[in-house]
Amino acid sequence: MPWMTHIMNPPTSKTTGGELGATSALVLLWSGPELYASREAQEYWRKLDLSEGEEIHKRCNNVWGNYGEVIKNRKWKILQTSKQILAGEDITQVVIVAAGFSPMGIELASLFPQSCVFEVDKSNMEAKSRLCASVRNLSCLSADITDREQCRNTLLAHGWNPTRPTLLIFEGISYYITAAQAADVWGLFSSSGSLCLFEYLVPQEQIAAHRRSIPDEIFETILNYCGIGTPITRWSRELLGQKRGVRVLQCHTLSDIERERTGQASTFSRSEDGWIEVALLAMDQDSQPSSGASLATKETK
Ligand SMILES: C[S@@+](CC[C@H](N)C(=O)[O-])C[C@H]1O[C@@H](n2cnc3c(N)ncnc32)[C@H](O)[C@@H]1O
Repeated sequence: MPWMTHIMNPPTSKTTGGELGATSALVLLWSGPELYASREAQEYWRKLDLSEGEEIHKRCNNVWGNYGEVIKNRKWKILQTSKQILAGEDITQVVIVAAGFSPMGIELASLFPQSCVFEVDKSNMEAKSRLCASVRNLSCLSADITDREQCRNTLLAHGWNPTRPTLLIFEGISYYITAAQAADVWGLFSSSGSLCLFEYLVPQEQIAAHRRSIPDEIFETILNYCGIGTPITRWSRELLGQKRGVRVLQCHTLSDIERERTGQASTFSRSEDGWIEVALLAMDQDSQPSSGASLATKETK
């Protein structure tokens, strides 16, 4: 997508590897570094220059000053669940699509040295590789995830094993690609025991009337800033449930996540007060769930 490439960050003394796109910087400005415990992720964070995201951060915060809570909740849930799954040891491969400059792959690779983590993005992966070269079990790969063959060949060329289970992570990307393109990516990860953490924007009618305009205006601000004309894709637990090849094991609203993360749901008191959800999907509908999946099934709401 053009938004990462037309707003390049000039190299700075801190971002030794080069550019940082505005939307990836925006998300990192909202999330902050507190989530990441590993020395490697902290060192990486210190090298980032997030200034490219400052203008869009300001504009989005003018829409709703609490938006950082949305991102903190989603990032926290995806990281916690990933750590839980990798600690189970059934899955030792992770593929993070559209990873951008997020430190999550660095954190997972550092905390689980027996695992292989692959990040795939169509922009900035060479620059990112240079910023985290010491993390040996992380590969930052350039590919367009809407080109299934390119994505598959790139992963295969760097050691991804399609016959072994993979944890696939879709964060901050489902709204910018079509449902068919997302399903096409899932199709690459159908080996028994594979799981997918899938984060998405829910349909308008599932959002409380007083909150509906917030995500609409935020996405409009981002699309306008980045000059993108394509419509936003929305998903729901029901739509995911209708898709062949995936089975919904868990589904968490912002309200669930906020309560779990902070002990109370004050920004998102009820499900309909939020608009982002994080689902855990089993990728092989016909097989027995792995132990990671059975752990997940207990928590299905
Ligand atoms: C909003 S950022 C999200 C970054 C990260 N996942 C996060 O949540 O912090 C969107 C990312 O998607 C990437 N992207 C968009 N379209 C893509 C495509 N077709 N193939 C690969 N990457 C893509 C962009 O380059 C950018 O890094």
